[in-house]
Amino acid sequence: MTPIHLHVVICSTRPGRSGDAIAVAVADIARRDTRFQVELVDLAEVNLPLFDEATHPMRGQYAEEHTLRWAQIVARGDAFVFVMPEYNHSYNAALKNALDYLHAEWRYKPVGLVGYGAGMSMGARAIMAIKPVLSALKLIHTADVGVSTMMTPVVDGVFTPSEPFTLATTAMLDEIDKTHQAIHPLRA
Ligand SMILES: Cc1cc2nc3c(=O)[nH]c(=O)nc-3n(C[C@H](O)[C@H](O)[C@H](O)COP(=O)(O)O)c2cc1C
Repeated sequence: MTPIHLHVVICSTRPGRSGDAIAVAVADIARRDTRFQVELVDLAEVNLPLFDEATHPMRGQYAEEHTLRWAQIVARGDAFVFVMPEYNHSYNAALKNALDYLHAEWRYKPVGLVGYGAGMSMGARAIMAIKPVLSALKLIHTADVGVSTMMTPVVDGVFTPSEPFTLATTAMLDEIDKTHQAIHPLRA
């Protein structure tokens, strides 16, 4: 069977961020699973300006070079894991901006959420805040994983997954696979 092209998206763009190390750990777990072909996508590298398209993305009339580049990246993904920080009880602005840029490229694709924060909420408020936005774009939410960077910190640039993190991430990948199989025909 053709593997699912899974984009693991590093959503934080901050210098010194924890998100890249957490995303690498998620990608490593997914790469051990033959159902997935994994691509790490870094919003810091994608480097989108604040949304600057003249027409609604629903029309697919992208004018800007950076939008066309971003659209190509998202279009080749069958499914996504957003590795996203909690900032002020919500998810981060770079992710909202990256979502707003496109429309059809997101539609009917499963998404798993890895939320993380320094507090005890383990990114839960970021996860709750993004759900209406996923729904607007017809990105199909599957499962969540929460991380407290206070309890499992990134040390020297490395995030060592706890057993519950690995189990929850594996369960999320199962949900992404099942959802992909069910909704893939809608993309035709
Ligand atoms: C602007 C800002 C707001 C934050 N707000 C929260 C918050 O509401 N809840 C929380 O648990 N952590 C919060 N934090 C802590 C971050 O979630 C934590 O530092 C995390 O590592 C940030 O991800 P990053 O390092 O990948 O950017 C905040 C950090 C920043 C920079």
